[in-house]
Amino acid sequence: MTSHRIILDCDPGRDDALAIALTLASPEEIELIGITTVAGNVPLELTQRNARFLCELCGHVDVPVHAGARRPLTRAPVTAEEVHGRSGLEGLEVDEPSMPLQDQHAVDFITETLRASGEEGVTLVACGPLTNIAMVVSDAPKVLPNVRQIVLMGGVSRVGGNVTPVAEFNIHADPEAAAAVFACGRPITVFSLDATYQVLSGPDHAGRLESLGGATAQRLACLLRPFGGGAKGRFGPGHTPLHDPCTVAWLLRPHLFEAQSVPVVVETEGAHTLGATVVDWWGVTGEPPNAQWVTKADGDGVLDLLIERIARL
Ligand code: BDR
Ligand code: CA
Repeated sequence: MTSHRIILDCDPGRDDALAIALTLASPEEIELIGITTVAGNVPLELTQRNARFLCELCGHVDVPVHAGARRPLTRAPVTAEEVHGRSGLEGLEVDEPSMPLQDQHAVDFITETLRASGEEGVTLVACGPLTNIAMVVSDAPKVLPNVRQIVLMGGVSRVGGNVTPVAEFNIHADPEAAAAVFACGRPITVFSLDATYQVLSGPDHAGRLESLGGATAQRLACLLRPFGGGAKGRFGPGHTPLHDPCTVAWLLRPHLFEAQSVPVVVETEGAHTLGATVVDWWGVTGEPPNAQWVTKADGDGVLDLLIERIARL
């Protein structure tokens, strides 16, 4: 029996692609109910196209893919082509997928799935801006008890931001949505840059996946090599952090990580701090914890897991 029933909400995205592949390579532990996409790294037309392409590449045309929010709740869309390329999957030759996009909006799909799930609940894994999840929170609060947990990639506290000195892309892209999700009352586990900067792939990892895996793994291996100038020399030549697959790796191997329960709020107004995740490490606010913040990641362990699993595809 699988231990996690999940909906994967994402904006593929080179590292989102690895999260999708790791999920599809792990059917013993994870039942992927559906993929929902959001505008983020690239516009919605490309994130939904890329999600369908990746399902086909990984041999899972049965996974329903639903498109969601075209833009953040209140702000203009921001993208990250400098990190992911114009297609969102730079380095991969993207074939036009033939599996269909589902008619149902992602927010309705998530809501209906939660409503039908009963006590067992559904885990929401979020690897992009939190617009879709926030819309579920505000439009359908009655289904929230059926959210077993939210595992998200976003935010930063200790290592400095990647879009501003204090903000990370997914939270900064839609801070109002992130604020709503952090306040929703369900269990949240956060893979911020504090954790994902400990999971760095380098040229050896891509080479290992190429030598171990079949045709699919060989195509995906390019995603373990850096592209673009987003990192600005932070990680050493040829190295790149693997943000989004950390969420799925945690479901598969929680012992690879350490976390601390903390109160977290999102800055939605600051002139210099918009999109900052403000973590109360020392309990100075007196607020109860609303999230588990991952502080340590076994980078080698995560890379080994990723390579071993994706090589199976
Ligand atoms: C996050 O932003 C996106 O560019 C990546 O896909 C990841 O989800 C990292 O800041
Ligand atoms: Ca992403």
